[in-house]
Amino acid sequence: MRNSKNVSKYLIGKGTFSQLATLLADRQEGYHVYLIDIFFESKNLNLPKRNEDVLFFVDTAHEPTTSYINELRDQIFAKKTNLPTAIIGVGGGVTLDTAKAVSNLLTNGGQAEEYQGWDLVKKAGIYKIGIPTISGTGAEASRTCVMTNYKTGLKLGMNSEFTIYDQLILDHELTQTVPRNQYFYTGMDTYIHSFESLAGRHRHALSDAFSIQSIELSRQIFDSADMMTEENREKMMVASYLGGASLANSFVGVVHPFSAGLSVVLGTHHCIANCITMRAMEEFYPKEYKEFWKMAEKQKVTIPEGICRNLNAEQYQKLYDSTVIHQVPLKNALGENFKEILTLEKVTEVFKKM
Ligand SMILES: [Fe+2]
Repeated sequence: MRNSKNVSKYLIGKGTFSQLATLLADRQEGYHVYLIDIFFESKNLNLPKRNEDVLFFVDTAHEPTTSYINELRDQIFAKKTNLPTAIIGVGGGVTLDTAKAVSNLLTNGGQAEEYQGWDLVKKAGIYKIGIPTISGTGAEASRTCVMTNYKTGLKLGMNSEFTIYDQLILDHELTQTVPRNQYFYTGMDTYIHSFESLAGRHRHALSDAFSIQSIELSRQIFDSADMMTEENREKMMVASYLGGASLANSFVGVVHPFSAGLSVVLGTHHCIANCITMRAMEEFYPKEYKEFWKMAEKQKVTIPEGICRNLNAEQYQKLYDSTVIHQVPLKNALGENFKEILTLEKVTEVFKKM
């Protein structure tokens, strides 16, 4: 059994974002790196940024690639000769994961792709603060940071204790301006992680408790008249954190591998890909399938349909390959012989239902 670690410190509540300057007070020597979601480029976040600090807007149109992480490292070293004393990530899952990966890479050296896997990071990264501005992926709490290496086709994070944030600020005031559909797609990520984890073969008592509470909060939010009230946005921050904390000790199931197939082959973003995958999940998760579609209807959210209906044989083969490659979650959900259930014909049929 792995020794578990969670985020060391967190501030939670409306307006806590304004305490960022206080958190940085004893790291004033040296410079800080701000990685900010491009969504905020034209908005004033009131960051305590000083002249010597470095700021990058993170392009969230694509999920992080290993070459993007290497490039950010190069851009930091093009401006500075020493290491920063803090990295601050402000944004959604893509930005939060980018900040984690850059933090590890700066102190460990080499290239980002050398750390794709489990426990390959050898040294603690730069002290990092994570500030989510949309909730659901659990990136603020998890011990990984998803990256794709386009040279090898490998989509795998730096799964390590060192990837976990040192400090979080969970201020739901920051999620006020999230577009409604996006809020739903991303929020559902934690609901989906949590039921996949609970339905799995590898169980962990604490992880189960995190998942159960994350699902309970998701129900309260998405079964209410308006998922985006102030109270619900605060609950959503907690649900996301708990879902991410649960994942540190558990595995996902059938939804995430199919969703990853959509991302790799059709370039569909993670959270919306999960929701599209839910169209075909009735036979694997009948209860959650029903509940998911009830919640989508209640919140009047539209989820794309038919994106895999008229593809060619080569595309279905690619979808199959990039789904069954995720052996760990599929074994967790379906057992050692999952490939006897998920044949090429079966997987194609599942994708066609989406
Ligand atoms: Fe996810």
